Amino acid sequence: MAQLWGGRFTKQTDEAVKAFNDSIGFDRRLYRQDIQGSMVHARMLGKQEIISKEDCAAITEGLQGILDDLESGTLEITADYEDIHSFVEANLIDRAGDAGKRLHTGRSRNDQVALDMRLYTRDAADSLREQILRLLEVLLDLMEKNTETFMPGFTHLQKAQPVTLAHYLGAYFEMLRRDYQRIGDCRTRMNECPLGAGALAGTTYPLDRPWVAAELGFACATRNSMDSVSDRDYLLELLSALSILMMHLSRFSEELIIWNSNEYRFVEMDDAFSTGSSIMPQKKNPDICELVRGKTGRVYGDLMSLLTTMKGLPLAYNKDMQEDKEPAFDAIDTASACVPLFAEMLRTIRFNKDVMEKSAMRGFTNATDAADYLVGKGVPFRDAHGMIGRLVLHCIDRGVGIEELSLEELREFSGFFEEDVYEAISLRACVNRRQTAGAPGDTAMREAISQERAWLKAQG
Ligand code: ARG
Repeated sequence: MAQLWGGRFTKQTDEAVKAFNDSIGFDRRLYRQDIQGSMVHARMLGKQEIISKEDCAAITEGLQGILDDLESGTLEITADYEDIHSFVEANLIDRAGDAGKRLHTGRSRNDQVALDMRLYTRDAADSLREQILRLLEVLLDLMEKNTETFMPGFTHLQKAQPVTLAHYLGAYFEMLRRDYQRIGDCRTRMNECPLGAGALAGTTYPLDRPWVAAELGFACATRNSMDSVSDRDYLLELLSALSILMMHLSRFSEELIIWNSNEYRFVEMDDAFSTGSSIMPQKKNPDICELVRGKTGRVYGDLMSLLTTMKGLPLAYNKDMQEDKEPAFDAIDTASACVPLFAEMLRTIRFNKDVMEKSAMRGFTNATDAADYLVGKGVPFRDAHGMIGRLVLHCIDRGVGIEELSLEELREFSGFFEEDVYEAISLRACVNRRQTAGAPGDTAMREAISQERAWLKAQG
């Protein structure tokens, strides 16, 4: 018996309809969650004396056998079944006979599939959070090593003010930390147990829903049975969190692609994390970054797809909701492939520190500091801004940096310049005078790193 229903039908399902309707092709990956949920459901039915102790034992033994056989490969999930729930139940009935037929008492596939998906995505959220933590570790290690690696900071992709590589990477640390927390936040709402909601209106059997919820490690049982079978917010939240995570990785990728370009040469990707061209022998391409950037669109698509599926659905369950699985799985698979690969790519990247530093020296990244210097000598900032602007124009004409002008030349723009200006606008001074909390200065940066280290440790 491959089908769970049929009593009120007088015809076989059309072959094309069956193929169109079936979800076993993609929900087969829920087999562990499905069996786990069924085991607890059966034990609860036994505990509540809704089924006999013997039936309960036969069901749990049968389910364990199915799980073992699937894990060992002796049992295969075939396309003969409508979905994973039908597969497990049909196999159970083969093994446990009438006891198996009692498993579905007080349950519907609507609350069953809602449970399976919550269990699956809860695990996925945990494993993604683990992966993000590993990536944060790589980032923090790099930050520790690069508090003295000077580089230009950009706005509008134009050199703005000098920063350090540690500070730059620290920005991505913050983004990814928020991703880690965001996934944790949606896990909280995900962590409620819908089993016992039945098809939509609960059930007449005396189910113990709080007990089932606790046995499955949920914080509580869901509250409204109609909402329980209709809610896919937890998937949308996870997909939103994954879209934001991918957006961060995509921005990071974009930077690394630019930095890896012949023009910038700030970084060189490890050979093991680059690919070549079939025609141009000199090429070493940053494909991992490009693919991460590309796959971001795909995860956004998954989110849009599910949002659109849900937007017009009346309560309670509708078959449209079967369309939640492929985008959810795809987004989870994509993000979990990207994060560890990105971490490893980053760990093995070579930073051309001298190129970064030289780049920071050129392009007037010390212009703000030159203005601040004059402010220190009593010039109002707006006037100082104008003076340094004219000075920069003069330097551009002559093809030199501010620090390359003699004191006499500098004095033509402001009589307030003195010998100490050269120290004040040096790269190191420009960075290290920025000691506000969150700034790239050495003391502020070391403080940030030690807080981040402590935070990482506390996550375990
Ligand atoms: N395969 C279905 C899904 O993923 C399971 C629930 C089926 N429920 C139903 N009433 N047909 O949504």
